[in-house]
Amino acid sequence: MTRWIKLTHVDNVPPREGRVVRLGTTQIAVFNTEQGFMAVENRCPHGGGPLADGIVGGTTVTCPLHNWRVCLKSGEVTKGCADGAPPVRTFAVEVRNGIVMLGVNAAEAAA
Ligand code: FES
Repeated sequence: MTRWIKLTHVDNVPPREGRVVRLGTTQIAVFNTEQGFMAVENRCPHGGGPLADGIVGGTTVTCPLHNWRVCLKSGEVTKGCADGAPPVRTFAVEVRNGIVMLGVNAAEAAA
C-alpha cells in the first residue's frame, strides 16, 4: 500500500537541480527536471556518490564523482555502466497544490 509523504514546496527545488530528503535511514534525491519532479535513492551504484549533487540534463543525472549517468525515470545506468551494475531505486512522485509528495510503501513511511 502506498502512502504519500509531503517533502517540500516546489519552489525549494530549482529547475535542473536536486535536493536530499531523508526517509528513515534512506537518503532520497529529489529532482526538478524538464519533465517534472522525480526521485531516486541518493546513492550512485558505482561508488555511492551523492546523486542529488549531480548535473541534471533532461531526465538523467550525472554523478558528481565519476560521471556515471543515471536515468531518473527507470533508475538504470545509461552511461559508464559496468556489466551487471544494479539500477538505482526510484520512487513515485506527485505534485499536489505546490507540494512535492513522495510515494512509499507503508512500512517505509512508518520507519
Ligand atoms: S560514485 Fe558515481 S560514478 Fe563513481
